[in-house]
This record gives sequence, structure tokens and C-alpha cells, in this order.
Amino acid sequence: MENLNKLLLLACATFSVISLVKSQNQEGFISLDCGLPSNESPYIEPLTNLTYISDVNFIRGGRTGNIENNSETDFISKPYKVLRYFPEGTRNCYNLSVKQGTKYLIRTFFLYGNYDGLNTSPRFDLFLGPNIWTSIDVLIPGLGDGVIEEIIHVTRSNILDICLVKTGTSTPMISAIELRPLRYDTYTARTGSLKKIVHFDFTNQRKEIRYPEDVYDRIWMPYSQPEWTQINTTRNVSGFSDGYNPPQDVIKTAAIPTNVSEPLEFIWNSESSDDQTYAYLYFAEIQKLKTNETREFKIVANGRLDYTNYIPTKFEAETLINPAPLKCEGGLCRVQLSKTPRSTLPPLMNAIEIFSVIQFPQSETYTDDVIAIKNIQSTYQLSRISGQWQGDPCVPKQFSWIGVSCNVIDISTPPRIIALDLSSSGLSGIIPPSIQNLTLLRELDLSNNNLTGEVPEFLAKIKSLLVIRLRGNNLRGSVPQALQDREKNDGLKLFVDPNIKRHGQHQPRSWVVALVASISCVAVTIIVLVLIFIFRRRKSSTRKVIRPSLEMKNRRFKYSEVKEMTNNFQVVLGKGGFGVVYHGFLNNEQVAVKVLSQSSTQGYKEFKTEVELLLRVHHVNLVSLVGYCDEGNDLALIYEFMENGNLKEHLSGKRGGSVLNWSSRLKIAIESALGIEYLHIGCNPPMVHRDVKSTNILLGLRFEAKLADFGLSRSFLVGSQTHVTTNIAGTLGYLDPEYYQKNWLTEKSDVYSFGIVLLEIITGQPVIEQSRDTSYIVEWAKSMLANGDIESIMDPNLHQDYDTSSSWKALELAMLCINPSSTQRPNMTRVAHELNECLEIYNLSKGRSQDENSSKSTGHSVTSISDIPSAR
Ligand SMILES: *[C@@H]1O[C@H](CO)[C@@H](O)[C@H](O)[C@H]1NC(C)=O
Ligand SMILES: *[C@@H]1O[C@H](CO)[C@@H](O)[C@H](O)[C@H]1NC(C)=O
Ligand SMILES: *[C@@H]1O[C@H](CO)[C@@H](O)[C@H](O)[C@H]1NC(C)=O
Ligand SMILES: *[C@@H]1O[C@H](CO)[C@@H](O)[C@H](O)[C@H]1NC(C)=O
Ligand SMILES: *[C@@H]1O[C@H](CO)[C@@H](O)[C@H](O)[C@H]1NC(C)=O
Ligand SMILES: *[C@@H]1O[C@H](CO)[C@@H](O)[C@H](O)[C@H]1NC(C)=O
Ligand SMILES: *[C@@H]1O[C@H](CO)[C@@H](O)[C@H](O)[C@H]1NC(C)=O
Ligand SMILES: *[C@@H]1O[C@H](CO)[C@@H](O)[C@H](O)[C@H]1NC(C)=O
Ligand SMILES: *[C@@H]1O[C@H](CO)[C@@H](O)[C@H](O)[C@H]1NC(C)=O
Repeated sequence: MENLNKLLLLACATFSVISLVKSQNQEGFISLDCGLPSNESPYIEPLTNLTYISDVNFIRGGRTGNIENNSETDFISKPYKVLRYFPEGTRNCYNLSVKQGTKYLIRTFFLYGNYDGLNTSPRFDLFLGPNIWTSIDVLIPGLGDGVIEEIIHVTRSNILDICLVKTGTSTPMISAIELRPLRYDTYTARTGSLKKIVHFDFTNQRKEIRYPEDVYDRIWMPYSQPEWTQINTTRNVSGFSDGYNPPQDVIKTAAIPTNVSEPLEFIWNSESSDDQTYAYLYFAEIQKLKTNETREFKIVANGRLDYTNYIPTKFEAETLINPAPLKCEGGLCRVQLSKTPRSTLPPLMNAIEIFSVIQFPQSETYTDDVIAIKNIQSTYQLSRISGQWQGDPCVPKQFSWIGVSCNVIDISTPPRIIALDLSSSGLSGIIPPSIQNLTLLRELDLSNNNLTGEVPEFLAKIKSLLVIRLRGNNLRGSVPQALQDREKNDGLKLFVDPNIKRHGQHQPRSWVVALVASISCVAVTIIVLVLIFIFRRRKSSTRKVIRPSLEMKNRRFKYSEVKEMTNNFQVVLGKGGFGVVYHGFLNNEQVAVKVLSQSSTQGYKEFKTEVELLLRVHHVNLVSLVGYCDEGNDLALIYEFMENGNLKEHLSGKRGGSVLNWSSRLKIAIESALGIEYLHIGCNPPMVHRDVKSTNILLGLRFEAKLADFGLSRSFLVGSQTHVTTNIAGTLGYLDPEYYQKNWLTEKSDVYSFGIVLLEIITGQPVIEQSRDTSYIVEWAKSMLANGDIESIMDPNLHQDYDTSSSWKALELAMLCINPSSTQRPNMTRVAHELNECLEIYNLSKGRSQDENSSKSTGHSVTSISDIPSAR
């Protein structure tokens, strides 16, 4: 069984040429013959009638080779006779256009065939997007042998990258790539994708069966054992409603034990005993039974009883699947069928498929970013760096595109592109609009190229941009007003050649602008009010139309389930403005269940819309909603459980034990800022949290921070950026003063609240404390700042274990966030960026002091959030 993945690709003996079955259509099939000259493409492979095309439009590099011609290779079918090999570059990627969310059978062929006359056996890695798929080792250089790698995988975007990565001295090569769409409800693993071990047809015919007999083009290999007897039928077998559709030629043959009293046993090896295995057993009774005959058997897989008395259906195919993955102890897996006492006939099995679970944990880069950067790439036909610009732009890190920097938070969050450096890249033409689709871009460097045209206004739309470098180009015109506003309000830094002037550099009419602006403000307010009035009325009449998506249905729980989950509401975790939060268990995972009180101001009206919205929001720094309950008056939200409670408890020492050190505090601040940033610019529609406060920042097992309770946030009108709310939400002390005065809600309100949280983090002071000289934290901080004494402001619990410049910078940032005028406040991107700098400064100083005082060093990483020192 060891060489299962190695397969004789000899054509003559292998493919059945029975053409009773109508030729099926090949819709959605992708059949690439790698290395095929484009003038020979496409062609129909005569034995399968599959249409193969050349790979030239799907790969950038590589050269083509032919396997050796001799009497043995004469019989190899055409797709495997040519190949593409990659002497240049470490990673070479095929980019295939697929349909997102489609389950595909993905198969790659590697037939060396001594194409280079070196008689070696190439070894290299195969990647699927950013994840390693397998290591290829074309072990036997003997002609005719090849390696097939096959998986069943659901595509995550519309692009599928298959990459060959050089790992040593040998040259990666590939013969063919085949993609076949499958039915979504077939071959489902609980987690991960499925790697093919075998598709076995139990027959003594020496022929392989694939398309067109198999509509999915699975390749069924004949298999028999000496102690088995083969039986077959000429009658057709029906019953393919489950979607597995075994070909007639596969299901019409079966194996039975030759000694009828012996069990039918099938044994195989798994690569490791940790492998999770799925077996698909195909059964159909293909003998005409007499009235006094029965065939009944029990099925035991790996010592576990799956069926006590299974009777195959007469001339009807059935697929039995283990719902939970099998673990094979010692790497040995076994399926045993033994006849029951009342059975007169031995057990039978027609075919088997075996897969092991393969994980592809690393998320691909955010799709819109990928599309945008590929647009930029094709606009400029970036030849200088195109060799490197292949595959996923961000991950794995060692292959990330030159000039592209990414924010890689963790493997389950799609990386985002945050910086693009195309300086001195010989670019000409205009600055392409697709740049604006890099919506989290912080730095853009296009300096020292030959770019023409004007400085585009759309750059102002990239909310996250902090630095733009355009010097050393042939740009003309002036800096657009919108960009100048961003320079003024957000501290955007724009570097342009001196010929590009800024308006208003000599503009005396600013009072006119101000007047017009204030008039239009009033007008906008009125318009917004009117719109809201209309919108609300419209909303109330269309509310019933909202249908829960499929996703929602799965996460909807009955009240009785909620009751069970929380063990009849036994453990209270906390009380909030909208109800009580209970501890619970869902599938053995801890959860927090918020039961909404009926008097909650939010009420039922918005509940469903809100839930639908929340279920779509996913970010590593936002507490995720796992489900909800909506049964009559009983409303509940089920959230992931956060082991370490909220930030406030840790600052006030309520939690006992340890006190957060300075770097942990900064990390928590950074992560919370990223969560808010995501609400503001990462999700669609954008949201304002409306209740950022230290009790809404929850901490996980390793003190990772996540924002909670953004259920309060309502999507605000896109475009106008402002939203008039009728009832003030939020918490005293954290509320944006502008919000009181104007009832205006912008994302800058969250920045204000975050500034307050930052003050709490720095000072350890309560937000409002009557016993203090100045009870409000803002006033208190101002008065302390006036003294210029950092020590008196910093939390005494830090025991002066902070770096002065790092803490000053954080404090300045906090004061900037709580500026009474919202336009003066930075945006969250900038906040996160500056906090990162605070952490870097601190780590540098810590590193220095550790060098100086190495005897004190305990050697653990300063940035690790888990090493929280205990209070002495
Ligand atoms: C391929 O198609 C041709 C013409 O449609 C048909 O005659 C032939 O039998 C087909 N071959 C297979 C293997 O289905
Ligand atoms: C794949 O790469 C080819 C060749 O570089 C390019 O023409 C094509 O647009 C790319 N396709 C996708 C989906 O990126
Ligand atoms: C092998 O055969 C193909 C086509 O029949 C031909 O083009 C090629 O030159 C041959 N190669 C060798 C090494 O003989
Ligand atoms: C069916 O079984 C008979 C008897 O064992 C054998 O001769 C024949 O080749 C088999 N046919 C197929 C298609 O397996
Ligand atoms: C089996 O099915 C095929 C295709 O549906 C049909 O052409 C053939 O006549 C059937 N054979 C029998 C024995 O029913
Ligand atoms: C068949 O198997 C039974 C039970 O294992 C055994 O006793 C018997 O000798 C076997 N018969 C033959 C013919 O091998
Ligand atoms: C079933 O009945 C047939 C006669 O109809 C007989 O020859 C055969 O031995 C019986 N088989 C069994 C297992 O009783
Ligand atoms: C930006 O992305 C959107 C959605 O993917 C697309 O419709 C639009 O054309 C893109 N804009 C540019 C300038 O590429
Ligand atoms: C820059 O572009 C201009 C106009 O297209 C062209 O005349 C000039 O030669 C280019 N300069 C360089 C260095 O490529």
C-alpha cells in the first residue's frame, strides 16, 4: 500500500473505453497540460474526451520539457508527456480562476520521465496558496512512474494559487493540473480539507476508471486481494441521490471473501497515527438473492462498531461514511465486515475511498487587496520585480512580494496590505485608481519613477494613509483639497516635488469658505434629519422582509437550548445596560450568554438586523458572536467566552493576583485600537462602536484583547459619515463632548472614548472618582500634566517599570484623542500606529537596560504578553 500515490500512467491498459455512457459535459473542469506549446492548445485527449489546454496563461516563468521517447513511454497519454520545469526563482505559482466557496477535486501530476537526461529524482514542495500542501519526491526515476497529489478543497476566493517551491538543488517540475467541481454536500470533513489516499474499485479487471464514466473524474484503481473473490453483474445499479455517483463499472463489481465464513477485511496505513481519516464505503447488492438467502454483516472500523447488521440494498448504491474522523492507532487502519449469524451469504464491498484530513490554516490575503495589487501589477507591467510578484502577496512571509508590507495578525485573519513601496521601479503613466482599493494602506511610496498626470484626489479616500511619497516624478497640477484636508486633520504626510503647489497657500478668502462650510453644515444636518425620518419610516415597513440567511439559521438557538447551555442561568458573569451575562457551555466550549432584558432600549425592533450584522463581523480583536436566541420575548446573544474578564478589573486590581505591566498594557491598547479601526474602516458597512470603555475590552486566555458589545453600534450612513441619533448611548465619562452638544455621532466619538481608556491604562485611575481633587480623569490628567511630572500621572502599580519616552508618547496620544474638537483627533489607524511605536520604544529601552544589566535578564521575551509579573 506504500506506493498508492504512485501510479502507472500507462494509457493502453488503464482507461476503459466502454462508451455506453453518454459523454458528460465538462462544466467547470480545468485541465491544464503543463508545458504544452500554445499552438497545440486546446486538444481533446482521446481516451477521456477531456479538453486540455496549455498552461501558458496561468504561469509566468518556467520552461517546457518532454519526457524521454522510447518504447515504454509510447503508451503514456498525452497530457503527461510534456512538462514545465522551473530552473529560476524559488517560488513559481500557477494562478487559476475558480469560483469562491466551491468544493473542488484538485489533482496535480508529476511525471519526471528523465526529461533533462540527468536521471535524478526531483524533490520540492507544493503549496496551495499560502499553505504547504505536500513535499513532492519523484522517488523512482524509472520511466512511466509518476506522482499524483489530490485533495478535495473548498476554495476561499476566486483565485487559486498552486505553487512549486524549490527546497534544495533539484528543479521543481509539473506535468498536469486538474480541477473538478464536486457537489458541496459531499466529502465533508469536520475541519480542514481531504487528501486522497485511495479510490479503489474492488474488481479483478485490470483497468482504471475515470471520466467520462465517472462524472467527477475520480480515478478509480482496480484492487483485489488473494483471499477475495470478485463478483459482478450486468444489470445497472441505481440510487445516486446522495451525490457520490460511483460509476456503473465501479459499483457493478464487488469483492466477497473466498472462504464465506471469514470476514472481509481491508487494511491500510496512515502516514502517522495522528492522522484523521475518512473512509467512504460503497455498497450495492449485485446478486439476485433467493428467498431463503440473506446477506447481512456488521461493519467495524478501527475497533469501533459502526453498523451491527447492515444489509446492502438490491441494485442500489449506498455510500457509508464515518461521521467523525477515524484515528488509526499505530498508523494501521482497518475496516472489517463480518457476516451475522443469520446471514447465509458472505459480506460484500463494491468500492472504497480513503482520505486523510489536511489542514490549510493560513488565511489568504484579503481578496480585495489581492485584486487591487494585481491590478497595479498589470497596469505597470512590473517586469523588474514580476519574478517575485507571484502567489499570495503577503504569506508565507518569506515569499511576500517585494515592496509590499502586510499586517499579519494571526493565521485565521486574512492579512492586509499596509504599505506599498514601488520607488525607483521605472514606473510610467498615471497613478492607478486601483490603489484606492487598498483600503488599509498606511504608507505609499512611488517616488523616483516617471509618473505623469496629477496627484489624484482619490488618495484622500484611503482613510488609513499616513505617508505618501511622490517625489522624483513628472507629476503636475496641485495637491487636491481633499488631500490637504487630510494633511491638516489627520496629520497625513504628503511628499511631492516643489512644482506641486498646495491651494490656499496664498488664499485670503478663508472666511468665505468658513461661512459656506457652516451654512452647508446646517443644511447637511437638516437633510440628514429628513433622510433619517424617511429611512426610519421605510425601515419599519420593510422590516418583515428581512430573511435570515442560512448562516443565521445554523446559529439560532431555542430558549430551551439557552437554558440548558447556561445550566438554568446558574453562573452570572456580569450585568450590563441591556441585560445579564451568564456563563455557559456550547459543544463543550465555554460561552458567554447575554440575556437581553425586555426593557432594554434596544428592544426587539433592531435585534434581528443587528444580529445579522454582527454575525458577519469577524476580527481577531472583536469578541465574536456565536449564536443567538430569538423566541417570543426571550432574546439572547451567545458570545465567545473570554477567560480573563475585562480590562478594568485588571487595572483596578479587582481580579487580584497580577498587575499588567507596561508592555502588556500597550499590547492591549494596540489590539483594542485595531478592533475599533476594523469597525471604522474594515467592515462594510462601517460602524461606530458607541460604547468604547475599559469594561468592554475583554481579555482572553493569553491576555489577547477583544472588544465587546459593539452590538450597540449601528451602521452609519456611508458617505455622509455622520449619523444623528435620537437617544444617547454610551457611558458617562467616556462620551464625546461633541456628542452631547450636537447629537452627532462619528467614528471620532470612538476615538474620544478610546482616549479615556488610554488614560485609564496609563494612570490606573478610575474615570470618575469623587474623592479626587478633580473627579473627572480628563481634568485630573490635565492638572497633573501642568506640573509636567510624569511619575505622578503614571499608575503607581507599574512600579516605575516603564520607559519615560514611551509613556510620554502614549500620554500625548491619549490627550490628542480626547481633544474636544473631533477634527483634531487622530483616526484609529494613526492611534494604532503610534501605540505600536510606543511599544517599540519601550522594547528598545528594555533591551538596552537588559544588555547593561544582563544579570537581571531572565531571558524571556519582553513583548510576550503572557509573562505578566506578579505584584510583589
Ligand atoms: C469521445 O467522443 C467521441 C465523439 O463524441 C465518441 O465517439 C467517443 O466514444 C468518446 N470517447 C469516450 C471515451 O467517451
Ligand atoms: C494569472 O497570471 C497571468 C499571467 O501572468 C495573468 O495574465 C492573469 O491575469 C492572472 N490571472 C489572475 C486571475 O490573476
Ligand atoms: C519524441 O517524440 C515527439 C513527438 O513524437 C518528438 O516531437 C520529439 O522530438 C521526440 N523526442 C525525442 C527525444 O526523440
Ligand atoms: C464478471 O465475472 C465473470 C465470472 O467471474 C468474469 O468472467 C467476468 O470477466 C467478469 N466481468 C467483469 C466486467 O468484471
Ligand atoms: C444501463 O444504463 C445505460 C445508460 O443509462 C443504458 O443504456 C443501458 O441500457 C442500461 N442497461 C441495462 C441492462 O439496463
Ligand atoms: C474457512 O474459515 C474457517 C474459519 O476461519 C476455517 O475453520 C476453515 O478451515 C476455512 N475453510 C477453508 C476451506 O479454508
Ligand atoms: C435455499 O433453497 C435452495 C432451493 O431452493 C437450496 O438448494 C439451498 O440449499 C437453500 N439454501 C440455504 C442456505 O438454505
Ligand atoms: C475597487 O473594488 C471594487 C469592488 O471590488 C470594484 O468594483 C472597483 O472597480 C475597484 N476600483 C478600482 C479603481 O479598481
Ligand atoms: C519619462 O516619460 C516621458 C514621457 O512619457 C519620456 O519622454 C521620458 O523619456 C521618460 N523618462 C524616463 C527616464 O523614462
